[in-house]
Amino acid sequence: MSENKPFHQLEVDISEILASHQDYRTIIDHVRPHLRQLLTSDELLPAELQVPLPNKYAQYLLYRPESESFAVIAFVWGAGQVAPVHDHLVWGLVGVYRGSVVERRYRREDHGEFAEPRYTIREVSEVTASQGDISFVYPPDYDIHGVANPFDEVAITIHIYGTDIGKQPRHIHDVATGNARDVITKHDNISPIFN
Ligand SMILES: [Fe+2]
Repeated sequence: MSENKPFHQLEVDISEILASHQDYRTIIDHVRPHLRQLLTSDELLPAELQVPLPNKYAQYLLYRPESESFAVIAFVWGAGQVAPVHDHLVWGLVGVYRGSVVERRYRREDHGEFAEPRYTIREVSEVTASQGDISFVYPPDYDIHGVANPFDEVAITIHIYGTDIGKQPRHIHDVATGNARDVITKHDNISPIFN
């Protein structure tokens, strides 16, 4: 683990934001410039972790304050690697650090508690995001997306979520059937890279 001053400042800044705002969209708007700043750092992720895993995208916890009120995560996407359609159930921002990814966004349309299926998942947009671009997620309406790296080059994205997303119970959605399954996506490292 490394000491990293910028993350201590980030903790101060995000704690202030969270102390004064509850609305997810407002929190996202205030956190965005801090993520933009983070994306300009050349020393976010050790070189050995910038190499993709062979079988799936890699998920590394960079920083998490003791309160776990937010967490900063790096995802490393090898060529062709994909995250299935999923939700987060918390606010989050996604910034592209290296390369490009394609994000497909979905809207959940509820049909009522007793309907079968109870809801359908409809694709609303597809965006190619490149270095420096930032998008966001938050429930209930902007929370479902799928991310992929269909390009030849490795992509790295940096995410800030309003909780430790590596412990967050959430869902993977089957767009075709409308079924969802429970999932917790654990980090590929045990302790945070920065403390
Ligand atoms: Fe996501």
